[in-house]
Amino acid sequence: RNVLAGIDIGGTKCAVSLGVLEDDGRIELIAKFQFPTERGPEHVMKTLLSELERLLLASGVADDALAAIGISCGGPLDSEAGIILSPPNLPGWDRIDACAPFRERFSCPVSLQNDANACALAEWRWGAGKGCSNMIFLTFGTGMGSGLILNGRLYSGTNDMAGEVGHMRMEDDGPTGYGKVGSFEGFCSGGGIAQLAVKMAEERIRLGDTQAFCHSVSDLAAITAQKVGEAARLGDPLALEIFAIVGKQLGRGLALLVDLLNPERIVIGSIYGRQLALLEPIVMDELRRQALPRSLSVCRIVPAGLQEHVGDYAGLSVAWNALSDPNFQRN
Ligand code: BGC
Ligand code: NA
Repeated sequence: RNVLAGIDIGGTKCAVSLGVLEDDGRIELIAKFQFPTERGPEHVMKTLLSELERLLLASGVADDALAAIGISCGGPLDSEAGIILSPPNLPGWDRIDACAPFRERFSCPVSLQNDANACALAEWRWGAGKGCSNMIFLTFGTGMGSGLILNGRLYSGTNDMAGEVGHMRMEDDGPTGYGKVGSFEGFCSGGGIAQLAVKMAEERIRLGDTQAFCHSVSDLAAITAQKVGEAARLGDPLALEIFAIVGKQLGRGLALLVDLLNPERIVIGSIYGRQLALLEPIVMDELRRQALPRSLSVCRIVPAGLQEHVGDYAGLSVAWNALSDPNFQRN
């Protein structure tokens, strides 16, 4: 039994992956199928199960070679009950039992984890957090979240709400995350950066500035965090101004985490992996201003070792954790 299955449920796409756990602890991804998150939870859950069955068959893996199934999904969720509780990025997913269909069909352990926690486990085991006792993983997709590895294990809190850093309020005013104005997610998630960019570009257009990367009303609808990043790398002044605000808020948020948790590593995932070079001086400047020097002196801030593939290992790492941490919820 050395095959793990990973199920990843995201706001725009879902994936099923199979990985072989090598003797040295590495994992080899042997199969993956991805499809858009459409037509509601019932359809998606059915597709996930049938695609897992299909991948096992196609890869010649017998059911009894499957050691564990891990499911990763945005919060809030109840990991002990295996239930997804209306995450904002999955409209219509209200109290969905994510584990039951797999438990009915397979005899191995099936467990559910927050997506950012799952990516933290993946980076800890197979990426940039290898060998750390204390590390934080930060993800910045549409939403923003974190996963905390403390004292050599995943810390998920009293009811799976630990690490929900995206919802911490940074300013009274500012872009909105999932619900809260001026939150960390508001300033630093992909969705938040786009909102900030629209607001600042509108102001420029009103003032008759035609120099910025986004200088007509018709450009506004197409603004994404990625476009802001591309423009910033080309030296666009508006994009650089946006990144100065985002970088400062990111530095401030990181300083809170450094002071609170004294981690040895903070691993930065998704869009910031690519944007890190641009943001680093701004973030580090703010961090040095805000965080305690003794804490900061032992903390390294690095991009995800699994790069943009970290999501491919999220569900797999949840499966791995259920096997390797005997005290952890395994159902
Ligand atoms: C959710 C987190 C999730 C993050 C990334 C946030 O809005 O609250 O649970 O980890 O988005 O998907
Ligand atoms: Na989390």
